[in-house]
Amino acid sequence: MESFQLTQVIKHIETPVYIYRADTIVENLTFLTTTLSSWIKQKLLIRFAAKANTNRSILQLIAKHGAGVEVVSGGELWRALQAGIPAQDIVFSGVGKTEKDLDFATTEQIDQISVESIEELTLLASLSKNANLCLRICPNVMALTHDKITTGRSSDKFGIALEQLPEAFSIIKDNPHLNFLGFAVHIGSQIQSVQPYQQTFKILADLLKKLPDGLTVKRLDLGGGFFVPYHPHEKPFDWQAYAQAIQEELADFHGELVIEPGRFLVAQAGILLTKILYIKKTTEKTFIIVDAGMNDMMRTSLYGVQHQIVAAHPTQGHKTQRVDVVGPVCESSDYFAKDIELPFDLKQGDYLAITCAGAYGSSLSSTYNSRPLIAEVLIDNKKPYLIRESIPVDHLSTFEIYKALI
Ligand SMILES: Cc1ncc(COP(=O)(O)O)c(C=O)c1O
Repeated sequence: MESFQLTQVIKHIETPVYIYRADTIVENLTFLTTTLSSWIKQKLLIRFAAKANTNRSILQLIAKHGAGVEVVSGGELWRALQAGIPAQDIVFSGVGKTEKDLDFATTEQIDQISVESIEELTLLASLSKNANLCLRICPNVMALTHDKITTGRSSDKFGIALEQLPEAFSIIKDNPHLNFLGFAVHIGSQIQSVQPYQQTFKILADLLKKLPDGLTVKRLDLGGGFFVPYHPHEKPFDWQAYAQAIQEELADFHGELVIEPGRFLVAQAGILLTKILYIKKTTEKTFIIVDAGMNDMMRTSLYGVQHQIVAAHPTQGHKTQRVDVVGPVCESSDYFAKDIELPFDLKQGDYLAITCAGAYGSSLSSTYNSRPLIAEVLIDNKKPYLIRESIPVDHLSTFEIYKALI
């Protein structure tokens, strides 16, 4: 983010604030639609995992540059449709879709419902409405990532166990409303090694060989989870090896492929800009207390991951100090970094940028401690645009009523 843009933004808007760069998002997406697509012989469809960043302007930007979306709730489906994303570009995953969600998805005739259990399939079949579906399988592979973002082991709640597929096939065959497209998988997030993907593709290839008579697979949805470096020393995801794994394992598959990148498209496009409220020195530590809290960006308190934090303006000299960067929320887990080096001359009122905050930042935020949902800004063509106003606490409290129900 050029600092002149940040100065302009700060003049018009209070911190903390999320700031995204449109060009980074478009560059990442274009890489997938052109370079990655050129390495893969099958047709490749990109479905952005909207949970990573659900802001309408971001969804619209992504749709404008050739991707659809993957949603995981009726609310996300509603937002995607509101953003103008065509139903034929929407995939709906999630283990707990309600009857209302399934009814909504089938009424809108979305492109793909990724069914995650026999029980969900039974409910979908009982609606007697035309539905395009993939069976999301549980391949039982270790994604070699953080435990809390691993989704492909048999101990995880996601997907249908391979042993249960015959039952799923017979429900599909007995129901003329169910249009079977193929299989979907998603084994986790922040996956660095291509090996778990390759292992998953092998399992899919094996399934293709064992299909019952009368069923064909037109589509394989390979999920998301692609590693994004949060620090300069981390290596980016090896897309070439990923494409090669697809070509090796799925060479005989001639249908279409879907991938569902979330973090990869938006993480590096965003920062959380925050102001230093106090620099508190104790006998043991120096705490930089900022105006952003865990409610605004909870990745550190939830997963223990530390984002790189930098001064948002030029600093003098090279002298640094060892600090913890913490928020104002009344929880010890409300911190963004521990024991990091920041410039020595930082002072109250200066700004810090928490980098790589474009994914699972705003979308995971809450109003804990009665703090507002913060504003979001998109820098598009070098100009900053407000894409979400801060949602103040007085607005939230208008929903707190006392009304007899019976
Ligand atoms: C089904 C599904 N697809 C795609 C994604 C996106 O993952 P990532 O942001 O790591 O690419 C997720 C994330 O949880 C998911 O659950």
